[in-house]
Amino acid sequence: MSSVFPNPLSSPRLLLRRLQSGDDTALCSYRSLPEVARYQGWESFGPDDTARLIESQSHSEPGVPGTWFQLAIVERATESMVGDCGLHCRQDDLRQMEVGITLAPSHQGLGYATEALGCLLDFVFGTLGKHRISAVTDAENPAAASLFRRLGFRQEAHFVEHRWYKGYWDSEFVFGLLKREWELRSPGGGARVLPHGHR
Ligand SMILES: CC(C)(COP(=O)(O)OP(=O)(O)OC[C@H]1O[C@@H](n2cnc3c(N)ncnc32)[C@H](O)[C@@H]1OP(=O)(O)O)[C@@H](O)C(=O)NCCC(=O)NCCS
Repeated sequence: MSSVFPNPLSSPRLLLRRLQSGDDTALCSYRSLPEVARYQGWESFGPDDTARLIESQSHSEPGVPGTWFQLAIVERATESMVGDCGLHCRQDDLRQMEVGITLAPSHQGLGYATEALGCLLDFVFGTLGKHRISAVTDAENPAAASLFRRLGFRQEAHFVEHRWYKGYWDSEFVFGLLKREWELRSPGGGARVLPHGHR
């Protein structure tokens, strides 16, 4: 059966491709780090979690209501996996998706997250034709908030201490971006490498 996902998506420095069995070592090595897990939905991430994630993604498709579609972020120059990103299709509205991303600390600060999500946004709005994408970040995770602002997301909400999470009252930002907003910002699509220092 053919897939709506072209596998891979490519940008100047990166490939976004489906997770595959050989990704286990790289995936586990950065997702298991406390500084990576700190604002994420997991407490710990070991080999069993890695195997489950890769297995669960083996036949996944973007746009299935209520599911995440996870992709490996691969550095083209070294062919190594440096992170992952995911698209969640809302159960209540197929025209909207949520995005999430994780980079290995060794590959943060290079603009890779901006470039990977730019590429993914072109796919979601261009190929899939979705109306809106949202992202939820911990209010104490400035790198994540900066990333979404840099991509043109609007901050739509600040939930203050609205949930008990990992042992404390947690605050979160919600960001949103519409298809027409992305098209105005990125006419014709095509993920770009933003100049260093760009906000
Ligand atoms: C959120 C996360 C992906 C952001 O990563 P990041 O490396 O800060 O984001 P980018 O890869 O886009 O890099 C941007 C930084 O690189 C710099 N940079 C260098 N070259 C660049 C380029 N060509 N284009 C854009 N930025 C560039 C920017 O100036 C910016 O630096 P600054 O943080 O000092 O301002 C990362 O912090 C992470 O994986 N955290 C752990 C997981 C997590 O919390 N995820 C959020 C869930 S939604």
